[in-house]
Amino acid sequence: MKITIVGAGNVGATCANVCAHKELANEIVLLDIKEGVAEGKALDIWQTAPINLYDSRTVGSTNDYSKTAGSEVVVITSGLPRKPGMSRDDLISTNARIVKSVTENIVKHSPNAVIIIVSNPLDVMTYAAYLNANFPSNKVFGMAGILDTARYRAFLAEELNVSPKDIQAVLMGGHGDTMVPLPRYTTVGGIPVTELIDANKLNAIVERTKKGGGEIVNLLGTSAWYAPGAAAAQMVEAIVRDQRRVFPVCAWLTGQYGLKDIYLGVPVILGKNGIEKIIELDLNADEKALLVESAGHVREVLEVLDNMDLA
Ligand code: NAI
Ligand code: 2OP
Repeated sequence: MKITIVGAGNVGATCANVCAHKELANEIVLLDIKEGVAEGKALDIWQTAPINLYDSRTVGSTNDYSKTAGSEVVVITSGLPRKPGMSRDDLISTNARIVKSVTENIVKHSPNAVIIIVSNPLDVMTYAAYLNANFPSNKVFGMAGILDTARYRAFLAEELNVSPKDIQAVLMGGHGDTMVPLPRYTTVGGIPVTELIDANKLNAIVERTKKGGGEIVNLLGTSAWYAPGAAAAQMVEAIVRDQRRVFPVCAWLTGQYGLKDIYLGVPVILGKNGIEKIIELDLNADEKALLVESAGHVREVLEVLDNMDLA
């Protein structure tokens, strides 16, 4: 088993470190365009193997895609992160060019890979990768929902003073301020969250979740990486171990939820073929309206991409 992670920055290196620690592959290739960075971080991670007691070998590459050949799973994190005052959408033109060239190189060397996109603006970068990969849509999808749900679950665990392990939740929509956390599908050890927390507090947590990425950008001056890296690694694990985990994933919709020709966060089953199934929930009218609003925002950014000449 071989995994490639493109972009050896904060998120990519963290993802590689988690994948290695969990022994998700014999070989984990970290690739970056900056001379020596991927090699240096891969070597540093490899030197944790005797301490953390695992065998996965991390290998670095400065833009040499031959080293990625035959990868079963590829995670694309290359691109600029958000800076304070910048929306995810501001990143579109630079990151779309990067995602396009990276995807083309990846598919040349790993024609059977499952590709997970992390670069922002997530929903639209996932579409850019899909357009350039020419793979079936079950093999090209994006990571955002696991991260956004983790933020929601962490805030709830703190408020309720319970273990985050016991909080289960569904969150849908685009990876942006219009994302849709779903209290009706949120439970604490099987108990509906609405029985444990008053409506105002729950609403405040939903609002904080929607701005969770920005909260960290304002604190750090760049975007988060520990939770994003761990979230991408959790998707890799579900695929390489064929776990059939149920996660919110940025998936290509073909009519589900009344939406089509768009990448959007929805619950899916993730296994060895990538997206094994998209799960359709029976949303109520309010939830559906929020999802449609979120899809509308993603479509606005998609139009920007469609109007760009990326040749
Ligand atoms: P970073 O700046 O630390 O790392 C990005 C890396 O990509 C850099 O090392 C850079 O040299 C590399 N890179 C740029 N162009 C490249 C190319 N053509 N080929 C190979 N490597 C290239 O940024 P960070 O924090 O790791 O974030 C990466 C991306 O992930 C950003 O777009 C960020 O907005 C996004 N992100 C998405 C999240 C999500 O939930 N989907 C969460 C957190 C970050
Ligand atoms: C995050 O949500 C900025 O997308 C990045 O942390």
